[in-house]
Amino acid sequence: MRKEILTARLAEVKESGLYRRLRAVESAQDAAIILEGQEVLLFSSNNYLGLANHPALKRAAQEAIERYGCGSGASRLISGSMAVHHELEHRLAALKKTEAALVFPTGYHANIGVLSALMGPDDTILSDSLNHASIIDGCRLSRADTRVYRHADTEHLGELLKACPATGQRLIVTDSVFSMDGDLAPLTEIIALARQYDAWVMVDEAHATGVFGSHGGGLVEELGLTEEVDIQMGTLGKALGCVGAFVAGSHELIDWLVNRARSFIYTTAIPPAVAASVLAALDIVEQEPERRQRLWANTRVLADGLRSLGYTLGTTHSQILPVIIGEACETMSVAAAILQRGVFAHGIRPPTVPEGTSRIRVTPMATHTQDHLSRTLDAFAAAGKEIGIR
Ligand SMILES: Cc1ncc(COP(=O)(O)O)c(C=O)c1O
Repeated sequence: MRKEILTARLAEVKESGLYRRLRAVESAQDAAIILEGQEVLLFSSNNYLGLANHPALKRAAQEAIERYGCGSGASRLISGSMAVHHELEHRLAALKKTEAALVFPTGYHANIGVLSALMGPDDTILSDSLNHASIIDGCRLSRADTRVYRHADTEHLGELLKACPATGQRLIVTDSVFSMDGDLAPLTEIIALARQYDAWVMVDEAHATGVFGSHGGGLVEELGLTEEVDIQMGTLGKALGCVGAFVAGSHELIDWLVNRARSFIYTTAIPPAVAASVLAALDIVEQEPERRQRLWANTRVLADGLRSLGYTLGTTHSQILPVIIGEACETMSVAAAILQRGVFAHGIRPPTVPEGTSRIRVTPMATHTQDHLSRTLDAFAAAGKEIGIR
């Protein structure tokens, strides 16, 4: 495509306040970072437990590099399936209390791979309207008849299930913690409907893995629903501080994915050092529940503080705090105003969230201090006054 066409298109995006650009972080991913030369408090990452720069994870990676080298050299089904990948999969299955688990290069790969491997043109997928983009793309790739139910609305889901064709498979798919709203899926009710209408259940635990559940196993663990969920997906790049994802479930499910999930089969295995770091992260998740407690304590302080400043946080029940502003331009002005005061929290605009609900997505970490939280609340107070919205 010619340059001028793209220039004109980019100009339109800029005009609508939806232009995005990349910013370089020049330090490790800690509670405070260097962002393009400025030291700022980081309230934008999914590194919820502060593990991305943890010495134990770094040591594990260094040792794995010494032992195994840098790359895995091939896809898993060729020669890239290294002992450390298998060890990680055993540990992830134990975390999830499932028969087996399978590692994918990213959560995006996992969702598109699972949905397209399990469902086909004769099947029906029922998908929450606020599911992650990777689920939406997985539904498209599967060519199944996808029916979208209103967000977390089990009455609507029930109506759609009732209207499903008698033939083919049915699968309900939902995030457990919604990535842009921080609210929780009504999993117990979804499972009851799945039983009634003989549907599979797939739960994306990207933002719950390591955070929810007494062992960090996710919301499915916290609610005691492991036996009822057919497919659990989790990520390794958020609370576990690395990159990658996994699917956990029965031996048969994992065997099928190894044989049919194209985003697993036709891609290079994650580097052994990453698998080793995730193993170290899992040790910490298991042995240091106080990290989760600190995350929840920080979340409470920040949520209470933002609400008392008059900000609206929607229906969040997690560490994801969406400070709803409304219009995209105003949202970016608030993000710029807090950044000027040394706080980095990202503005989220359409198409990631619906029109008119642009927001600053604020995510505390276990490693933020009381001082970090106070400075952030001060920045929001001053920004609100400056923009004239509080
Ligand atoms: C709910 C959800 N699912 C899947 C993903 C994709 O995971 P990954 O970043 O590992 O590709 C994300 C995050 O990006 C997410 O928020």
